[in-house]
Amino acid sequence: MSKIAIKKDIFWVGAKDPDRKVFDGLMPLPQGTTYNSYLVQGSEKTALIDTVEPEFLEVLLANLEGVKKIDYIVSHHAEQDHSGSIPLLLKKYPEAKLLCLQKNKEMLQDLMTIPDDRIQVVADGGEVSLGNKTICFMFCPWVHWPETAITYIPEDKVLFPCDFLGSHHSFTNIFAGDNPAVYKGAKEYYVQIMMLYSKMTAKHLDRIKALDIEYICPSHGSVYDKPQIILDLYEKWMRGEPENLALIAYVSTHGSTKLMAEHLKAALEKRGVKVALKDLIGLPLNELAGVLTDAATIVLGSSVIMAALHPLAVYTAFLLDRLKPKAKFAAVIGSYGWSPNPLKNAAELLPSWKVEVVGAVIAKGHPGAEAMKELDALADTIAAKHRAAGLL
Ligand code: FEO
Repeated sequence: MSKIAIKKDIFWVGAKDPDRKVFDGLMPLPQGTTYNSYLVQGSEKTALIDTVEPEFLEVLLANLEGVKKIDYIVSHHAEQDHSGSIPLLLKKYPEAKLLCLQKNKEMLQDLMTIPDDRIQVVADGGEVSLGNKTICFMFCPWVHWPETAITYIPEDKVLFPCDFLGSHHSFTNIFAGDNPAVYKGAKEYYVQIMMLYSKMTAKHLDRIKALDIEYICPSHGSVYDKPQIILDLYEKWMRGEPENLALIAYVSTHGSTKLMAEHLKAALEKRGVKVALKDLIGLPLNELAGVLTDAATIVLGSSVIMAALHPLAVYTAFLLDRLKPKAKFAAVIGSYGWSPNPLKNAAELLPSWKVEVVGAVIAKGHPGAEAMKELDALADTIAAKHRAAGLL
């Protein structure tokens, strides 16, 4: 890998990590990821924008071959996948100053050893000149840590939003173009790390949209050479209404809950509601995430095991609570052997999603005609709710 030109004197110099399987011990990375670092060579000064996971430092240094002097290392975000190489780079480039916001300085110094005299704090709205290029700093907290900054070079119309707008993959072509796989991955990434904070951070999207942008250079995944595509998608994901879609996420030990889930799917589709049916056994989180910006209804299905809801259903309810999907309505379905109470109490897991719980269908053992009738009635209710919400 060597550096890739984005605009005159602006280069991608990061590292691809196609073999990484998981991020934060939680998010599956089916196509790996990248740690994007950018070299910006002004007429007077040179800046390196973000760094890489420390184990990829040698890749970054190889991409910087021939660069004699780095005047500034810009840190947007203290998380180690971007900042972890900073201490070693400051040793390698002894004249370099680390540029960051005050909040980021504090978090960086909590996480690693960086002496005060190597850091130059920049204010929100502050500008640092490289000669014919200017790095403009914007404080954009909670995308996705409280210290995060975004930078913009107005002379080149290039935005560096760090994790915001990013995606996890390591495709050969660093430019996104119209590639649907990039935007599918960006959506899953958004749900897994950004959606939780979207109410607080949509205003940052407005600040970005007010800029004249030719390239968006995030810290993971593709460089957006058609920036309007990802900006429009973020507008939809952050502020748009959910769709006429019900997610049925279920776990079934002996097939009864599965039968109920499949019956409900057919009943909803008959009533004009689209359905995403997801068996939670072995389901990667990113595949669940892909529908959480869209589904207006979430139906959690579980069997009862160890006198409790199935652990996968509990785990999913916890994740939904943390991820804060857009769903307006929720319901519970499931089958039990001899202890119905875990399913009867399952709705207690739902209100913290801030949804209206519209029903529960609980069957003893194999679901009979009565349970199927109740599922049909639940489908009627969900379709009516979607209609009343203007979605159907
Ligand atoms: Fe890619 Fe929040 O670090």
